[in-house]
Order: sequence, then C-alpha cells, then structure tokens
Amino acid sequence: MITGGAGDIGLATAIRFGKEGASVALVDVKDMANAAEQVAATGALVRTYRCDVTDYGDVERTVEKIVADFGKIDLLFNNAGIQGEFKQLHQYPVDDFAKVIQVNLIGAFHVLRSVSARMVEQKGGVIVNTASMAGVDGPVNMAAYGASKFAMVGLTQTAAKDLAPFGIRVNSISPGFMGPGFMWDRQVDLQAAVGSQYYDTDRNIVEKQMIGSVPLRRYGNIEEIPGTVIYLMSDDSSYVTGVNVKLSGGI
Ligand SMILES: NC(=O)c1ccc[n+]([C@@H]2O[C@H](COP(=O)([O-])OP(=O)(O)OC[C@H]3O[C@@H](n4cnc5c(N)ncnc54)[C@H](O)[C@@H]3O)[C@@H](O)[C@H]2O)c1
Repeated sequence: MITGGAGDIGLATAIRFGKEGASVALVDVKDMANAAEQVAATGALVRTYRCDVTDYGDVERTVEKIVADFGKIDLLFNNAGIQGEFKQLHQYPVDDFAKVIQVNLIGAFHVLRSVSARMVEQKGGVIVNTASMAGVDGPVNMAAYGASKFAMVGLTQTAAKDLAPFGIRVNSISPGFMGPGFMWDRQVDLQAAVGSQYYDTDRNIVEKQMIGSVPLRRYGNIEEIPGTVIYLMSDDSSYVTGVNVKLSGGI
C-alpha cells in the first residue's frame, strides 16, 4: 500500500515494487490512472483507491477495501505529503500551518493507525514513513513542513517501539534535495520568492546555492529513493526498526 501513489516518489517506488513482484495498492487524492498504467506495465497487479488521508473514516474504508481486494497488507509506504507555503516565520499563514500538519502528520498517523491495526492482527508487516531532511535540520521559511517532518521522525520511533511486540518494523526515510520533480522546482521558485537572507531572489542562483550545500554536489534523483524503501521493507533489514535513513547526499 502506497499513499501519495500518484506523486513523484510514490509512483517511482510503486514501479519498483511492481518490478520486484509485489501487488500494489495506490492511494491518493489525485487521479491515479496514469500512475496505475505505469505500474501495470511492470506486470504487477495494481489497484487504485481515491482517499483523503486527513479523513480517518475515509482511511478506514480504504484500508478495509484494500484488505478485501488483496487479502492483507504486508507492506505500507506511508508517503503522502504536501510542502505548504514558503514564508518567514513571523509571516507564516496560520491556516496553512494547520493544513500541512493535518496532511503530513495527522494524515500519516491515520494511515499508520489503521494499517497497523490489521498488521497487529496478522502479527507482522513492515512500514516505511516518508519524513524529510526538513525533519532532521529545521528548514528556512518552511515552519509547518519542518515541524510536520520532525514529528514524523518521532512518530516513527514510537511506532517502532509500540509495534515491535507484534513483529512489525517501522522506519522512515528522509530525502533531502531531490529532483527533478514537483517539490524540487516548487521549493527553488518559492525560496527565491521569499527573498530571505538564506537564498538569492534568482531561482537559478537558488538552485546552485542548494546544490552547493550538498557534499555530493548534486540533488538526489527521485529514482535513488525506491531502493532504500525496498531494502527497509526486505528481510535484509530484519533487525532494523525505528531508524530514520537520510537520503541527502551528505547534508
Ligand atoms: N521531492 C522531494 O524533494 C521530497 C524531499 C523530502 C521529502 N519528500 C516527501 O516525500 C513525499 C512524497 O513527495 P513527492 O515529492 O512525491 O511529492 P508529490 O507532490 O509528487 O506527491 C505527493 C502526493 O501526495 C498526495 N497527497 C497530498 N495530500 C493528500 C491527502 N490529503 N490524501 C492523500 N494523498 C495526498 C498528492 O496528491 C501527491 O500525489 C512527501 O511526504 C514529501 O513531503 C519529498
């Protein structure tokens, strides 16, 4: 089960899961027809479920349907998220702060709660949550996003401890500057638009500033994420739980 399955990271991971022979349930608020077609091209069984993770009733109905369709959920990639606005803290829109927390934290908790309840019954499963480097080092001009992702790292640690007695492992990944894709382009444009002391107002210079802060001197490719998710969900990581893996080029 992959939330945010229509997005860049969710889809890249779904395709990789398809190639590895998994059956895939894509979950998103967006239309997933194109994503499903790409996953089906791997030969995998794929189904799509329209669901808003901020609505617990919707999440419960969706999880029930997935269990009815597939028999059970072995692996959860809890990945849906939004970036929110880019503003200095004293100007950060109050309603946007609540919205980002609602999707990135409360939505992620809804999915975690609902799926883990089934995994507890079946006494096993593996979960990977998508946090961010914004959850490791406070990002500038992204108060809501940073707070939501720091919380995701904490939620992962508690979930790992609470679910360990039931044979369920829970880890998180923290991508840093990843591209190409929606979030990369949006953050470059919006950091430039803020005009803070941290970034230039020219987006081409902002791009160089961001990449210049990365020891590997490039942004990570979205395609470099699925392998880590697969590892964390495989038996190769059978003694790994409660860990946050940084995919950040050394930041
Ligand atoms: N791309 C990056 O640079 C980057 C870096 C660090 C972390 N992340 C995290 O990775 C995850 C995936 O991001 P992405 O880069 O693929 O972005 P994306 O926007 O391409 O994908 C996110 C998906 O989540 C879905 N979504 C949003 N709100 C939802 C809701 N309420 N219910 C269900 N689905 C919802 C969106 O429709 C979208 O398809 C997010 O949690 C994001 O915060 C991304």
